[in-house]
Amino acid sequence: MTDESIIGIRDLTKYYKGSDEPAIDQISLDIHRSEIFGLLGPNGAGKTTTISILCGLFPPTNGEISIDGMDIRTNRDKIKHIIGIVPQEVALYPTLTGLENLQFFGRMYGLRGKHLKERIGEYLVRFGLESFARKLVSTYSGGMKRRVNLIAGLLHKPKILFLDEPTVGIDVQSRNVILEFLHELRETGTTIIYTSHYMEEAERLCSRVAIIDQGKVIAVGKPSKLVEEHPEFKNLENLFLGLTGKDLRD
Ligand SMILES: Nc1ncnc2c1ncn2[C@@H]1O[C@H](COP(=O)(O)OP(=O)(O)OP(=O)(O)O)[C@@H](O)[C@H]1O
Ligand SMILES: [Mg+2]
Repeated sequence: MTDESIIGIRDLTKYYKGSDEPAIDQISLDIHRSEIFGLLGPNGAGKTTTISILCGLFPPTNGEISIDGMDIRTNRDKIKHIIGIVPQEVALYPTLTGLENLQFFGRMYGLRGKHLKERIGEYLVRFGLESFARKLVSTYSGGMKRRVNLIAGLLHKPKILFLDEPTVGIDVQSRNVILEFLHELRETGTTIIYTSHYMEEAERLCSRVAIIDQGKVIAVGKPSKLVEEHPEFKNLENLFLGLTGKDLRD
C-alpha cells in the first residue's frame, strides 16, 4: 500500500456458504485519498460483495484490508466512525417521515440535538427535500427515496463514503443532483467508492475505475487511460463490453 492510498485490498476472496464458486476471487486494489473510485461490473460481478466486506458487514474468506492505516480485522469500531454506507437497496423506514428516518440514522452515528437538526436541515435543502421532510417515506418517489438514502449515509460526514449503485432507477434530475453533490464532496477531501454499471456516468464521475467480472479485476485505471490503452474501443462502455463480453449475467 502506498502513501496516497486510503484503502488497501490484498487477495480478497469470498465464498458464500454452500457455493463452490467464489463471489470474488483474489481482488487486490489500492484506493487513493480523495478520489472517486468506480467499481464497475455486470450483474453478479461481485461489486456488492466487495463493498460489504470493505464496510465490515461480513468477513472475507481470505485476504487483507487496510482502511486509513488500520487493519479491518482489529479496528472495526474505529473504522465504523470514519466510513459511510449508502446501500444498493433503499434502507429506510417507510412508515416514518424522511425527517424521522434521518434523525434515526443520525443518532445511530452519535449525532444529537441542535447539531443533528442543523446537519439534517442542511442536507434536506441541498437535495431539494425540505418541503417533503414531514411526509411519510412511503409516499416518496424513487428519486426522493434515493436522495434520503444518500443523506442517511453521509450525515456524520464520513472520511470514506461507499455508494452501491446510488443512481439506479432514478430520473436525470435526481441523478444530476447526486452526481454534482459527489463531485463537491470529493473537493472537500472525502474518498468515494461507488459501484455502477452505467459506464457513461462512471466515465464522467470517477478519477479511476476497476472493471470486475465474475469476481476478478480485469482492468484498473483512469477511464481515459484505459480507453487510450485499448484504441479499438472508443469509450468506457465499449471497452467494458469488449472486456466482459456480451453474454447475459444473472
Ligand atoms: N448472500 C449470498 N449468498 C450466496 N451467494 C451470493 C450472496 N450474495 C451474492 N451472491 C452471489 O455472489 C456473486 C456476486 O454477487 P454481488 O451481489 O456481489 O454482485 P454485484 O456485482 O453487486 O451484482 P449486481 O450488479 O446485480 O448488484 C453472484 O454470483 C451472486 O449470486
Ligand atoms: Mg450489487
